[in-house]
Amino acid sequence: MAEDRWLWRGALGCLILAGLTGAFFRFGLGYGFTLGLDLGNVRHAHSHLMYLGWATPTLFVLMARQLSALTGRPFSRAVKVVVGATLVGALAAYPLFLAFGYRSVALGEARVPPAAVAAGLNMLVWYGFVVWYARARRGQRLTRVLLFWDLALAFLVLASLGAWGLTMLKPLGIDDPAWSTALTHLFLDLFSEGWFVLAVLGLAYAVLKPDGHKAGHWSLWLICIGLPTTFALGMPASLVPPVLKVIARLGSLLVAAGLLVHVWILWGAVGEGKGGEGERERGGFGQVLRSFFSHDQRALWRIPLVLLWAKLIVQLVLGLWPGVWWSELHTLRILYLHLMLLGFVTLGLVAAATYVWGRAATRGRLWLYGTVLLVIASLMPLTPVWPMAWRGPWILPVAAWIALAPVVAAAWMLIATADKRG
Ligand code: HEM
Repeated sequence: MAEDRWLWRGALGCLILAGLTGAFFRFGLGYGFTLGLDLGNVRHAHSHLMYLGWATPTLFVLMARQLSALTGRPFSRAVKVVVGATLVGALAAYPLFLAFGYRSVALGEARVPPAAVAAGLNMLVWYGFVVWYARARRGQRLTRVLLFWDLALAFLVLASLGAWGLTMLKPLGIDDPAWSTALTHLFLDLFSEGWFVLAVLGLAYAVLKPDGHKAGHWSLWLICIGLPTTFALGMPASLVPPVLKVIARLGSLLVAAGLLVHVWILWGAVGEGKGGEGERERGGFGQVLRSFFSHDQRALWRIPLVLLWAKLIVQLVLGLWPGVWWSELHTLRILYLHLMLLGFVTLGLVAAATYVWGRAATRGRLWLYGTVLLVIASLMPLTPVWPMAWRGPWILPVAAWIALAPVVAAAWMLIATADKRG
């Protein structure tokens, strides 16, 4: 593994700490064990460390590594500095979110929200990566991989504008919950659905179909048109005007349809290139299972793609179901978010890391895959779609203990990558 091993290990460390924080939240709900912390702040600390310390820096390194392979230029020192700063910034914001959430505290004469300020500083570092990427990519032929990354970074910048807008509300004298929740969801949703999902799809294309397709595809229009409208789905229904509700539902359907096309293309691409250029995998489900448990790196994409597909089905159903609104279905939203962020994004990052740094960097990955599937399964009994007859007092304690499983698997991966031979 190359000298950028510490960046991967630093991000894995954040995944473990953020995962432990999520498990702590579950123990708080299941057993009332909170150590005096506010569970709302614990949730913020968990989600922000996952976003800022795990997925974002890992994407930066993997994209930069793939880009340097493409251009033949050495892996840039600037990227190491940016990613290192992202990790430090994420870890600095973590205790502030844990202690204060988004709350303001008195600082001399003024009142400032310390966690939000720390998260804002992180965003300045991301712009550093965007500038590095734009320069490194200049003069390259537009491939589908680069197109996905261009769009992903455009959504990263757009999402950050939502966050800046939020900080401007007070100075502009706007004290309207509709504006603050709209801008919060503009940030959160464009960040997860735009930046994370599109950037990981770019990684998937880089591994599975580096030059197998022309760059553009009509389905990308659906995604780009739909995405900027979906933030309204996360807002309380009472704050969203009827016409925006219809637009957001339509937007969500467009995004789901566009992404389904890419799940389809990439699923087919996993089986290509076995035993000769362009040859497809044969032998049905048995062969798929065998290739997954063999040392085939391409097969590692199967589970993330299935979980993305599951997320899209939930998105399509909710988009079409009259009278159903996201923000009123908290537990279903949590399942949906984790199908996307833990299932597709996190496992996709592990699959891409295996390709970029080799198998030594992700030892024990099948345990991580298995425990992620367990966590996702443990979220289902918490949702309203779970039959009443199957409910019981076991639901919350079981979800709490299962939440620890991927943390242990990721800790094992971190320890195993300490092996200098890797
Ligand atoms: C390691 C496994 C994980 C565990 C055990 C876990 C656990 C949790 C828990 C307990 C909650 C709060 C649920 C509630 O409010 O009822 C939560 C929310 C959330 N998690 Fe995770 N999670 C994990 C992985 C991830 C990953 C990888 C990401 C992102 C990359 C993520 C992003 C989020 C987000 C965005 C929320 C919602 C925050 C909000 O509504 O304010 N989680 N998670």
